[in-house]
Amino acid sequence: MTDIIRMEAIEKAFPGVHALKSVNFDLRRGEVHALMGENGAGKSTLMKVLSGVYTPDGGRVLVDGQEVHLPTPKAAQDLGIGIIHQELALMRDLNVAQNIWIGREPRLPFGRIDEAKLNADAVAIFAGMNIRMDPRTPVAGLTIARQQMVEIAKALSYHSRVLIMDEPTAALNDAEIAELFTIIRRLKAEGVGIIYISHKMDEIKRIADRVTVMRDGAYVGTVAAEDTPISRIISMMVGRELKDEVAAIPDLSNAETALEVRNASRGRELKNISFSLKKGEILGFAGLMGAGRTELARAIFGAEPIDSGEILVHGKPVRITSPAQAVRAGIGYLSEDRKHFGLALGMDVRANIAMASLGRHSDAIGRVDEKALGRVAKDYIGKLNIRTPGDRQEVGLLSGGNQQKVVIAKWLLRDCDILIFDEPTRGIDVGAKAEIYRLLKELAAQGKAIIVISSELPEVLRLSHRIAVMCEGRLTGILSGGADQEKIMELATERNGKTAA
Ligand SMILES: Nc1ncnc2c1ncn2[C@@H]1O[C@H](COP(=O)(O)OP(=O)(O)OP(=O)(O)O)[C@@H](O)[C@H]1O
Ligand SMILES: [Mg+2]
Repeated sequence: MTDIIRMEAIEKAFPGVHALKSVNFDLRRGEVHALMGENGAGKSTLMKVLSGVYTPDGGRVLVDGQEVHLPTPKAAQDLGIGIIHQELALMRDLNVAQNIWIGREPRLPFGRIDEAKLNADAVAIFAGMNIRMDPRTPVAGLTIARQQMVEIAKALSYHSRVLIMDEPTAALNDAEIAELFTIIRRLKAEGVGIIYISHKMDEIKRIADRVTVMRDGAYVGTVAAEDTPISRIISMMVGRELKDEVAAIPDLSNAETALEVRNASRGRELKNISFSLKKGEILGFAGLMGAGRTELARAIFGAEPIDSGEILVHGKPVRITSPAQAVRAGIGYLSEDRKHFGLALGMDVRANIAMASLGRHSDAIGRVDEKALGRVAKDYIGKLNIRTPGDRQEVGLLSGGNQQKVVIAKWLLRDCDILIFDEPTRGIDVGAKAEIYRLLKELAAQGKAIIVISSELPEVLRLSHRIAVMCEGRLTGILSGGADQEKIMELATERNGKTAA
């Protein structure tokens, strides 16, 4: 069988980073080839070489056995290579259909854009994906999951024979992942080759035919997904065995209540929500996408205040109407959308980590102690194993997972009593996940009150002391001990007191 794609001895270096060291990769027709590796291993860089974003320093790329040059993304598209990038890159001011056909809009005789055809063509692609979306919806108003769907539609619109998906499910819920897998299987049957990058180990068994593992910019090996145990793939990735430590649930019966929410409501998003959180406790929030978990977090953080109800911090009612007030009240919120709320991409790692705690490292007249900041930043770079040539590297140049680690470091460093983490390990590799779980537990043991919102049930189960489940803006239950995936799913789909069929 000839390969559609063959990459041989690909080399790429950035200042201070040898990102690709003689990497080999090949793709067959109609296969799903998973590309795995820790954060910063070089996965996205290799795919940017294949899609014409980066020019390699060495090596060859062959398409259908012919050596090709891919100086631009357009050159790759013309050869049928489509990519859905890890960081979504849609134009927020344009609508869905305009984003899909940007730069190649159908025109009417006098040169005006044919809006009707533009929209109809977009609807046709969505129909092929078996989803429904109004093509005139502005992208800025879409959830991350929906934006992802638009990116996929856009890549499909190029009739790609090769489709690269760089962490496509990072922001999708279970139902949406199932939908995506249906689309992938259909494309596969049509002979499209798919390169699939993900940190979710269970997906590999579900969707991949072969798996190639990279470590530290180097090629480690390629195996058949079916006959390779996940533990073997993980040890190829991290170069060692990982052990799974289970959370011991601390006795919090005498602990103080740090946060209490009473009958919080806002519009149709939050309906009469009440719960409390103790010092030292990790309260997990599970639910389907759109259940209202992020809205609740944003309400507590003052980003979108509640219409009615009460929030108490350390037993005292507070009126929080802005994030600045929340931070003063000792509440931190790590947003699910790091690109827009979490990071200053043009600034360096040190500044980003230190941003939330400048006050503590300044003297009486506000001069910042740069040396101390450097020490703190280096400390967290080490603790979270952030792959960067140093603390002065621009954050925007780090790999996706490493950017996420910088956001986490920032909030770990900020001295908040109550910390809300919204999808903290999205895009984070298995090794670093374990490290983040350990740090969160350590913070709890120090007396911090922690809320973790996560769409990954194994993560919620592994981390939480109690689990709150939401459905359609309501809190449908709080499980303490003996929770399992089924119980959570039952509560997550419970509508108006009845379990959905
Ligand atoms: N434009 C760039 N300039 C400097 N360094 C870069 C650039 N792009 C990538 N790197 C570095 O190259 C290395 C590989 O990054 P890459 O994005 O390929 O990792 P990845 O395997 O996709 O990781 P993740 O799982 O976190 O997405 C990282 O150390 C990253 O910081
Ligand atoms: Mg990447």
